[in-house]
Amino acid sequence: MKFSTTASLLLAVSTATTAFGFSPVSTSFVKQTNTISNTRYSSFNTNITPRTMSKRDASLISMNAVTVGVVGATGAVGKEIVDCLNKSSLDVSKLRIFGSSRSAGSTRDAGKFGEVPVELFDVAAARECDVVFLAVSGDFALEHAKAISEGDDGAVVIDNSSAFRYDKDIPLVVPEINGECTKGAKLIANPNCTTAIGLMALYPLHKLFKLKRVIMSTYQAASGAGQPGMDELQEGTRAVLSGEREVAENKIFAHPLPFNVIPHIDKFQENGYTKEEMKVTWECRKICGLPDDFPVSCTAVRIPTYRAHSETIIVETEEPVDIEAARKAFEEAPGIKLMDDTANEIYPMPLTATGQYDVEVGRIRKSLVFGDNGLEFFVVGDQLLRGAALNAVLVAEEMAKNGSL
Ligand SMILES: NC(=O)c1ccc[n+]([C@@H]2O[C@H](COP(=O)([O-])OP(=O)(O)OC[C@H]3O[C@@H](n4cnc5c(N)ncnc54)[C@H](OP(=O)(O)O)[C@@H]3O)[C@@H](O)[C@H]2O)c1
Ligand SMILES: *[C@@H]1O[C@H](CO)[C@@H](O)[C@H](O)[C@H]1NC(C)=O
Ligand SMILES: *[C@@H]1O[C@H](CO)[C@@H](O)[C@H](O)[C@H]1NC(C)=O
Ligand SMILES: *[C@@H]1O[C@H](CO)[C@@H](O)[C@H](O)[C@H]1NC(C)=O
Repeated sequence: MKFSTTASLLLAVSTATTAFGFSPVSTSFVKQTNTISNTRYSSFNTNITPRTMSKRDASLISMNAVTVGVVGATGAVGKEIVDCLNKSSLDVSKLRIFGSSRSAGSTRDAGKFGEVPVELFDVAAARECDVVFLAVSGDFALEHAKAISEGDDGAVVIDNSSAFRYDKDIPLVVPEINGECTKGAKLIANPNCTTAIGLMALYPLHKLFKLKRVIMSTYQAASGAGQPGMDELQEGTRAVLSGEREVAENKIFAHPLPFNVIPHIDKFQENGYTKEEMKVTWECRKICGLPDDFPVSCTAVRIPTYRAHSETIIVETEEPVDIEAARKAFEEAPGIKLMDDTANEIYPMPLTATGQYDVEVGRIRKSLVFGDNGLEFFVVGDQLLRGAALNAVLVAEEMAKNGSL
């Protein structure tokens, strides 16, 4: 339902970071892993499409039905958004798909929404929607976002770029944590994937024991650098294994990634940390509403996996930690899957977390360094989903629930 006073929603989702999920590389990777004869990897036996999210209310959000527009639904990124919408509880009265002249006039399989015709993108047409997901290039978003959003009946914009993330007037949102910040907002920023994954686990702990310090080490997949990053890993690995080269070539990464780990993601800053590491610090503080000097430190490392980021997290807390209470909090928190049964060798891994909406948490233990006031654990999440389209679609769901749509 479109009100002139409320805004429709525009979603600008990362193109570079989300496109790889549907690449030929990840598909062949899935096929290869099918040969692993272990049912614990059953998530790989179908495809990379996310399964249902545990602990989420599957019933339709019974607010006003909304008209949803997706710009770029013929692209790799837009497909993922349509897939998330197909599984979302957002009450969609109509789905409209916009493209360029290349695809306008064709149709697109949109799951429960049927075969949807692709319309030529046009600002006025996009403004007719209550909710518009934008899955085209960042330049396209920057060019059209304002035009779609301005005015009383303009769109609420959800942007994935870092441009607005640190602007204090613009909410940076992980719906499970600070979804209420979306209320009445016109512009919303999507956090960086690394932060979003870690925060899924950090926030429930913060609520229980109050965080005092956070130390994080990340093990990030090649796909964080998009399709070219995955290609470089695959090509390089093949070249080394075939004996063609002794060491793989590198263009995307600072050094060859195959058979290596690289403690360098994004640019180095004056303080010796990389920008990727500082993003974690800044975004954690903002999303959890922590003070500007709250101590969060990260070492971000690129590893030769395709998809899903892993993180070792060590926290010192104000209150003594009750391990069982922590485990229970993880178990109950939406968006988390507890994988913590070391006796049966169950813990989070990229192989099991890939394609899952939920972030896996395990290896939960009292910290030898911080004692009763500390906890150490391991987190793995599919950054393509949690850090991108899924987070954005969940923001839209949240806004429907709190009446902002
Ligand atoms: N696919 C990858 O693996 C990958 C990896 C890294 C980076 N990227 C980059 O990320 C961006 C998007 O990725 P993608 O894979 O989703 O690209 P894509 O497959 O080319 O999709 C782009 C989408 O944007 C739409 N679009 C482009 N210009 C438009 C316009 N003027 N008006 C309306 N719609 C327009 C396209 O619609 P039409 O089909 O109608 O043209 C298409 O649906 C691209 O710039 C790409 O270079 C892609
Ligand atoms: C989204 O993020 C990607 C990767 O950081 C960037 O390339 C793209 O320009 C961003 N989109 C917008 C609308 O800024
Ligand atoms: C939509 O969801 C259904 C059921 O989960 C699934 O079978 C179908 O493949 C999905 N279609 C698309 C286009 O995402
Ligand atoms: C998150 O940060 C990494 C490293 O800087 C970058 O490659 C990626 O594009 C960022 N993701 C988004 C969604 O901006």
